[in-house]
Amino acid sequence: MPLKVENLKISTKDGKITPVKNAFLTVEKGERVALVGESGSGKSLTALSILKLLPENLIAEGNITVDDKNVFKLTGEKLRQFRWKDVSMIFQDPSASLNPLIKVGEQVGEAIKFHHPELSKKEITEKVIELFKIADIPEPHKRINAYPHHLSGGLKQRVCIAMALACNPKYVIADEPTTALDVTVQGKILELLKKISERNNVGILLITHDMGVVAEFAKKIYVMYAGYTVEHGTVEEVFSNPLHPYTEGLLKCSPTLSGKPKRKLPSIPGSIPQPNEKISGCPFHPRCPIKKEICEREFPPAKWKNGRFVLCHLR
Ligand SMILES: Nc1ncnc2c1ncn2[C@@H]1O[C@H](COP(=O)(O)OP(=O)(O)O)[C@@H](O)[C@H]1O
Ligand code: SF4
Ligand SMILES: [Mg+2]
Repeated sequence: MPLKVENLKISTKDGKITPVKNAFLTVEKGERVALVGESGSGKSLTALSILKLLPENLIAEGNITVDDKNVFKLTGEKLRQFRWKDVSMIFQDPSASLNPLIKVGEQVGEAIKFHHPELSKKEITEKVIELFKIADIPEPHKRINAYPHHLSGGLKQRVCIAMALACNPKYVIADEPTTALDVTVQGKILELLKKISERNNVGILLITHDMGVVAEFAKKIYVMYAGYTVEHGTVEEVFSNPLHPYTEGLLKCSPTLSGKPKRKLPSIPGSIPQPNEKISGCPFHPRCPIKKEICEREFPPAKWKNGRFVLCHLR
């Protein structure tokens, strides 16, 4: 059974703002899936809701299931176990994820000890070294004794990846894991995640705003705009024949299509609406190059065809 998000809505508890209005996605075991969209479209909140890590002022509705578990019902010890053994997460800034005062090997060791209190100190160290090897950290025997500030950004992210794998999770969510890193390191981190997904049959949900990264990494793609999932399909299908005008805009100056590497999404005229902004009809209509009169009046229908999805009147 996969990791599945359906009809996800995330609002402030006072009901005034709804940053995620209707999102969905599925990640199967061993599958590499990308979640894309401009900054502010609701990608990170969607990811955080899968781990029940939403900020205090927000509340999620809908369905989130991982294998047979209803995530909304998990609490206490079950939730703690779930966060390491079912789904773990890698964040954008590895420095913020690591404690600057503790040796990196110890930090990864803590995660192992937490879940395997029966292991001896020596066994834990061996396991940490094994994880560092999986994360392609050179000289792992030495590196376990390093403090975060001794390591480059790329190596710190590899430590975070090792930590995320500490309890053999079935799924890993990586929220813009390479955005804070040097361009030359980005590709290597993506390669590593790919290798882990293949070797350990881990389903990976990669969040990015970079279509070049999507092309390199994922097999399936979900596009979010203003809190809605607006398009879904295989990367091959969506890149060769995007259905939603927003996806088309994202791909238009895509580096992969023109052959040149690029870091940011091309800019689409206008900007993403604020979560509290009321827009009639299609949320993309103020920026849509092909909108018709109906688009300003009516919310677009959700269309499924041959495993592809699009939220648009005209496609
Ligand atoms: N705790 C919060 N309370 C209210 N709004 C929030 C909160 N956190 C994020 N938002 C808003 O929700 C929207 C989506 O945020 P986010 O999921 O971080 O977007 P993305 O990851 O796609 O850039 C943004 O407009 C952001 O300002
Ligand atoms: S529904 Fe209309 S405005 Fe919205 S994306 Fe489709 S064509 Fe554009
Ligand atoms: Mg984000």
